[in-house]
Order: sequence, then C-alpha cells, then structure tokens
Amino acid sequence: MSQKLRVGILGATGMVGQRFISLLENHPWFEVVTVAASPRSAGKTYEEAVNGRWKMTTPMPEAVKKLIVMDLNEVEKVAATVDFVFSAVDMTKDEIRAIEEKYAKTETPVVSNNSAHRWTPDVPMVVPEINPEHFDVIEYQKKRLGTTRGFIAVKPNCSIQSYAPVLTAWKEFEPYEVVATTYQAISGAGKTFKEWPEMEGNIIPYIGGEEEKSEKEPLRIWGKIEDGVIVPATEPKITCQCIRVPVLNGHTAAVFVKFRKKPTKEQLIEKLESFRGLPQELELPSAPKQFIRYMQEDNRPQVTLDVDYENGMGISVGRIREDSIYDFKFVGLSHNTVRGAAGGALLCAETLKAKGYIQAK
Ligand SMILES: NC(=O)c1ccc[n+]([C@@H]2O[C@H](COP(=O)([O-])OP(=O)(O)OC[C@H]3O[C@@H](n4cnc5c(N)ncnc54)[C@H](OP(=O)(O)O)[C@@H]3O)[C@@H](O)[C@H]2O)c1
Repeated sequence: MSQKLRVGILGATGMVGQRFISLLENHPWFEVVTVAASPRSAGKTYEEAVNGRWKMTTPMPEAVKKLIVMDLNEVEKVAATVDFVFSAVDMTKDEIRAIEEKYAKTETPVVSNNSAHRWTPDVPMVVPEINPEHFDVIEYQKKRLGTTRGFIAVKPNCSIQSYAPVLTAWKEFEPYEVVATTYQAISGAGKTFKEWPEMEGNIIPYIGGEEEKSEKEPLRIWGKIEDGVIVPATEPKITCQCIRVPVLNGHTAAVFVKFRKKPTKEQLIEKLESFRGLPQELELPSAPKQFIRYMQEDNRPQVTLDVDYENGMGISVGRIREDSIYDFKFVGLSHNTVRGAAGGALLCAETLKAKGYIQAK
C-alpha cells in the first residue's frame, strides 16, 4: 500500500487544478487520488472532463486520466477519500469561503489557492520562505472551527511574488516606501491566447482587484500573530499598478524602493543571493535550491528565458540601480501559475506536513 498522503484537488479541471495535477505527478509525499470539479464535470473521467481544455505543455499524467471526477459540492463524500485537499475552484468568494470551511470541518486540511480566506484573521497566508511561523495560528483557527486536524491555509496572490520576497531579503535596510508596476501574464486570468485572442499584441491597464491585493497582501505576510490572529505590518507602504500584457506565463514587476538605511548595490545583491528560508533548510521536495537569483545582464530577467527558473519556483531579479527620486529600482520576475499559484500552495503543503499539521487521517 502507498505510504503517500492521499490528495484531492478541488477545481481539478481548471487551469490551476491542471497545474496541481502536473506538479504532483511522481511527488514523493503526495498522491492525487481524487479530482473534483463542478456538477458539469462530475461523473466523467478526468480525461473526458478536460477534453480539449488541457493547458499544460506536458502531457496529462496517465495516473489521473481514468479517475472519475467528483462533484466538489458533495463535501462529505469527497473528504472521505483523502487526507487533505488543494483548492483551486472558481466560484463566488462567499461560496468558496463556505465550502473551504465545510471541508475543514470534516477534519480535512485545505491548502487553498483562492483569495476568499486571505483576510480571515486566523487563516495563515504563507510564502514558506518568508513567514512559515504564521502556520502556528492554525491552533487558534482549529479552536474556532471545533476541529482537531481540519483547517484552512492559503497562499498569497501571484502578483506579489516578483517583489515581496525581494523586499523581505532587504528587511534589515528598512524599506519604507515602494512603487511597483506589474506586467501580468494572461494565464493569471486562467486563459491562453486561443481563448483570449484579443490579448495578442495588446495591453489592458486594469485587472480587477489586483492592485489592492498587490499593495496589502505583503503587509499581512510581514505581520505577526497576536492574540490568535495575524496582525499586518504597517510598512513598507506599497502603491501598485497592475497591467495585463500579452505574455502566457510570468509576472514581471518594475519596482522603486526607499530605504531608511540606504544600502549599496553590492549589499542588495548579496542579500538576495544569500536569502534562504525554511523550505531550503528542510530541503522540501518542491523548494528551489536558490530562491532568488540576481542576473547581471542589462536585458534580464526575460519572460521567455527566465520564467522557468528553478522549475518555476525561483524568483529572478535584475537591473538593480540607483534612482534619482527613490533610492533604488529593480525588475523582478516570477512564474504566476507555479510559484504564484499551484507551486506556492504545494510548498505550503510540504511545509505543513514537515511541521506535523498534515498527516494521514
Ligand atoms: N490562474 C492563475 O494564475 C491563478 C492564480 C492565483 C489564483 N487563482 C485563482 O484560482 C481559482 C481557479 O482559477 P483557474 O484559473 O484555475 O480557474 P478555471 O480554469 O476557470 O477553473 C475553475 C475550476 O472551478 C470549477 N468550478 C467552477 N464553477 C464551479 C461550481 N459552481 N461548483 C464547483 N466547481 C466549479 C471548474 O469546474 P468545471 O471544469 O467542471 O467547470 C474548474 O475546475 C480562481 O479563484 C482564481 O482566481 C488563479
């Protein structure tokens, strides 16, 4: 019998769900045993349900093709088959909040890609290299939910991954004011060019809700647990514009920073290159060996050349230079559906397993 933990994917047929399926192929700790989606897909094999909608560049793993898709609204039935679930459903926020809580109450941990619970005060929102200690708030959440092992943990929005880790690495220089512009890929909207042909050669200067997330979520990640809830940090202040660009995968950020303790360029690069977190210490299966790399060439990072760095789990940074108004500016790049979505959630689950929060039922 397999010793791996049994995983279910809620929203398995969607773009992020497919990314989970791909990343979990041959995973050393976790095995996908259940795929769940809307009633439209329920009852079909995974292969039939996804027919014509497979968006990954690698083929659909054989192991999932014949799994029968379950209706994710049948919570008890789905929960009975798994040790924990990843959530990547597209429903209203209220519906997602409710259904994720239902799963948690069946004693099934939920590691979510959705934004619905990102501001629930006792739900940890974690980038494992930055704030794994926030998982400790789960004990308080379990008391509220009345569970012994069921809880919800979330990962932050894809847009912040190209600059929040960088600012974290520079914490001791006390960044206090940040201006960021993100250039975001169409897969962030769950789309390919085939489905969104009007994006070819186009730019759209608006992504609903994205600027608020980009400005506020980093502060929650840099926050502290106080009296059983996460209290966000108040600095650095971030202002952001989020732009949709004709790129399939990869969010780029152009960022300006003011520091209270102004460093040199060499110090900034050194801090990026030496930055390590818990996933690197524990050598978790999906952890990038080098979380942040600095690229010296003036024309890097580039989306097509650099988005898959460290299997899409690493951050590429370039063009650090002094600015005439701010102290420094730089460009960052991350993979929005790997580090920014399914991969980030998978690394959260690996950290949760390593910390003993996720176990076999
Ligand atoms: N794409 C990204 O880069 C990204 C990044 C971060 C966060 N997110 C978030 O992750 C979530 C999923 O995104 P996505 O791009 O993967 O969306 P998607 O491709 O549209 O997939 C949505 C999934 O949800 C299921 N679903 C839709 N309506 C449902 C309903 N009423 N009941 C049960 N299941 C339902 C779909 O099942 P059927 O196939 O049966 O319809 C499908 O499995 C969204 O909330 C999105 O905001 C996406």
